Amino acid sequence: MIKVLVTGGAGFIGSNFVRYALKTHADWHVTTLDKLTYAGRKENLHDVMDDPRHTFVHGDICDAAVAGPLVEASDYVVHFAAETHVDRSIMAAGDFIKTDVEGSFVLLEAARRSPALKRFIQISTDEVYGSVAEGSSTETDELKPRNPYAASKAGADRLAYSYWATHDVPVIVTRASNNYGPYQFPEKIIPLFVTNAMDDIPVPLYGDGGNVRDWLHVLDHCRALDLLIHTGKNGETYNIGGGNEVRNVDLTRAILKHAGKTEALIRPVADRKGHDRRYSLGTAKLQAMGWQPQVAFEQGLRDTVAWYQANEWWWRPIKERDPAYKAYIEAQYGKR
Ligand code: NAD
Ligand code: DAU
Repeated sequence: MIKVLVTGGAGFIGSNFVRYALKTHADWHVTTLDKLTYAGRKENLHDVMDDPRHTFVHGDICDAAVAGPLVEASDYVVHFAAETHVDRSIMAAGDFIKTDVEGSFVLLEAARRSPALKRFIQISTDEVYGSVAEGSSTETDELKPRNPYAASKAGADRLAYSYWATHDVPVIVTRASNNYGPYQFPEKIIPLFVTNAMDDIPVPLYGDGGNVRDWLHVLDHCRALDLLIHTGKNGETYNIGGGNEVRNVDLTRAILKHAGKTEALIRPVADRKGHDRRYSLGTAKLQAMGWQPQVAFEQGLRDTVAWYQANEWWWRPIKERDPAYKAYIEAQYGKR
């Protein structure tokens, strides 16, 4: 069996990757290492928790005693674990520095002691390039992160690279654009707006709604990572973008249309501090390896809205019964 460690496997992308990996590779044993923060939930893995090829470990990547042996026992590490919400990093950045930077350091130190390790996939983000006025970011562009989340990810991105350049750890860095799909925590724009709309709660659109994000279906992201694990080159960085640049206001209108609601639910609110205007990824490097996004955005968004409509069991307990979630929503939107 090929042993694969997935950090952050109880989060949005991680859980989709664990499910994809078990389905796609009969010879993989997947271990999820997850701290189960507010964003990490065993429910995200409900259908694979009892799979004999999957082991769930509740632990912190910053804890070398837990994370170290798991890294050392692995053929591949796919490192998703992170604090990921920009708005939370603007409110308080400490956990971002701790997990995204120090946690990555702990894993990389363990990887350095693991001669059998074949890949260490450092999941970075397109946010490390900062706001892109024109054209698209390519992998060799300067990093100009502009919010604490993006800066913590840029630190980890370059730290991982340095462990390849210095210690020959088999690191590949990936920078993906905005993911969407099932099991995304309802603080990010798509699940927040879909679930608000379902209950006729206004959707808070930041600023003039003209900010642009490039949307990538989470399964297209998983397919790209699979390809890179097998055919990527150590020490290289790869952009993974969906090629769907959409203004937030247009995304919001499309969500409301698919949810069967009117635009009267749109509530313009004060902008995010330091709000990056546009992200745009050049993906020629990955496309030259044979990858193309397979999910058309219109259909993918329609299916995603339908998933949240069909899976109220998954999000209602968070939105209606989790006091920490309610406190976050009040702190983030109460006075906006
Ligand atoms: P998420 O917030 O849904 O999940 C993060 C997971 O990491 C959770 O399960 C959480 O419990 C876990 N975690 C947090 N701190 C931990 C710690 N100290 N130890 C162990 N586990 C810990 O995030 P996501 O959206 O799935 O993002 C996954 C990765 O992909 C992140 O590295 C993120 O920066 C990157 N990324 C996300 C997107 C996107 O659009 N969501 C785009 C590009 C890159
Ligand atoms: O680009 C990749 C990044 O995408 C990832 O690295 C991050 O982990 C992920 O959270 C995501 O960051 P964004 O800040 O782009 O995602 P978010 O869903 O928070 O916001 C998307 C856009 O929608 C952004 O321009 C801000 C806007 N927005 C967001 C929220 C939550 C609103 O207008 N209203 C909202 O309530």
